[in-house]
Amino acid sequence: MSKITVIGAGNVGATCADAIARRDLATEVVLLDIKPGISEGKALDIWQTSALAGFNHQIKGVTNDYSATTNSDVVVITSGVPRKPGMSREDLIGVNAGIVKSVTENVIKASPNAIIIIVSNPLDVMTYVAFKTAKTLSSKVFGMAGTLDTARYKAFLAEEIGVTPLDIQALLLGGHGDTMVPLPRFTSVGGVPVTDLVAKDKLEAIIERTKKGGGELTNLLGTSAWYAPGTSAAYMVEAIMRDQKKLVPVCAYLDGEYGYKDMYLGVPVILGKNGVEKVIELNLNAEEKALLDASAQAVKKTLGVLDTMNVLDK
Ligand code: NAI
Ligand code: 2OP
Repeated sequence: MSKITVIGAGNVGATCADAIARRDLATEVVLLDIKPGISEGKALDIWQTSALAGFNHQIKGVTNDYSATTNSDVVVITSGVPRKPGMSREDLIGVNAGIVKSVTENVIKASPNAIIIIVSNPLDVMTYVAFKTAKTLSSKVFGMAGTLDTARYKAFLAEEIGVTPLDIQALLLGGHGDTMVPLPRFTSVGGVPVTDLVAKDKLEAIIERTKKGGGELTNLLGTSAWYAPGTSAAYMVEAIMRDQKKLVPVCAYLDGEYGYKDMYLGVPVILGKNGVEKVIELNLNAEEKALLDASAQAVKKTLGVLDTMNVLDK
């Protein structure tokens, strides 16, 4: 028996639950939202695709009933407000910090051994809130951003080069904000360095577009994206449930790695059945380290805002 819970049945949560169900990652999938009926309705709708999409295990929706989530192996937290055009992810902290804290309290009470993946924004700081609230191992609490941001980077590169995104290997560091750091030195296509395939100015434009990828979609949609975010979270859940030992960028707790302490930031990790099994420390050049420092500073600034809010227990 295995169980995965997704908290928040909005755009990202429902898409994530759908992707998890289609991959048949657990014998039980639970979708929970605070708004009555929404989880029940979306779960029923997803379950009714089973005969068409070809999966076996039922997905159940509940309204704020954490007893249904008891002993989950993995919990994905997507609850919280999304950004609207003109808003940054950081603007969401006022509402989302309280939501993430109360949800995490309920989650950890029902599933003390669960691995928790945070999606709510501002991502790096909400993951910190969840970790400090859950009081569990840092390897079991981490955030989804790098898988999404690299997926966007790969999509733009695939379009430019005219290759399948599946053959692109890429890495990206830093916070989930406009200061994120895509790394051309760690990007290749079928083993060929990306710099041999894409002109410098085109590559720079793709990096800029990747950094603002969330904003581009928010402007188009009037709210933030969900297909790629929900699928990215499910991709991480799959790495854990199938113990795939994937080397992917994850918003992970740093305790001295890369020179940062007591904060969450996007770094490459090995993701497997124990969660973050290893943080990979890259040998960055001076330019890459300076960009990562700027991104870490942006996250620290938002952590400073969190500090003034007195959300966390002292
Ligand atoms: P949404 O508004 O469609 O869904 C959010 C859901 O959370 C709603 O159904 C709401 O009822 C529920 N909710 C609110 N408070 C709750 C509580 N206390 N308990 C349970 N459920 C609660 O928003 P969407 O688009 O799904 O985005 C969710 C979050 O994910 C946002 O904070 C957004 O910024 C973030 N996000 C993060 C990404 C990332 O890469 N990390 C990418 C895309 C979105
Ligand atoms: C995104 O990157 C807004 O974090 C959200 O789509």
